[in-house]
Amino acid sequence: MNKSDNSSKTGGDADAALLKLRQSLGRFATGVTVVTCQGSAGPCGITANSFSSVSLEPPLVLWNIAKVSNSLQAYLDAEYFAINVLSARQESLSAHFALSDHTVFDGVDFETSDKGVPILPDTVACFECRTYQIHDCGDHYIIVGEVETHRFDDNKPLLFVDGQYTAIADSAD
Ligand SMILES: Cc1cc2nc3c(=O)[nH]c(=O)nc-3n(C[C@H](O)[C@H](O)[C@H](O)COP(=O)(O)O)c2cc1C
Repeated sequence: MNKSDNSSKTGGDADAALLKLRQSLGRFATGVTVVTCQGSAGPCGITANSFSSVSLEPPLVLWNIAKVSNSLQAYLDAEYFAINVLSARQESLSAHFALSDHTVFDGVDFETSDKGVPILPDTVACFECRTYQIHDCGDHYIIVGEVETHRFDDNKPLLFVDGQYTAIADSAD
């Protein structure tokens, strides 16, 4: 189903409209993940806050990848990928994996799962998924994964809102 409004804005109007859309979307606070897979040239990681749960039975999750991503083909080809949900202490990892750089795993600790997927340590949750569906959608692809294994801990997650990192405040109890 494709219900698009092809309104024709140009130049400054288009830039202003895009900025306003980004600002409106930025009001939706999210967690922050690094999505990893094993590419033909080595491990790939990309910071993503488009992660969402989709279904419990079967257990499905999704995330969106920009078509301009340098590692797009690795994710389109991957049979398995992992969603690593970052802790409040892992802001630097988020910044690291938001870099456009094919050697992004240099200097980063990771383990490799039995499916060959890079897994980041000390995250608040991790979902290892088999690619279930890929949808071509505007300037992104929606990648849906079936969760095969997952784990979590009780540490605080990293949050992202209005284009800034934040964290859940300590309670005053
Ligand atoms: C907090 C945050 C969330 C992001 N979420 C996404 C996302 O959901 N999908 C995406 O394609 N890029 C997202 N990005 C941008 C990518 O991380 C970035 O463009 C990418 O790592 C650049 O490298 P590449 O060109 O090699 O993919 C996000 C960046 C940040 C800082």
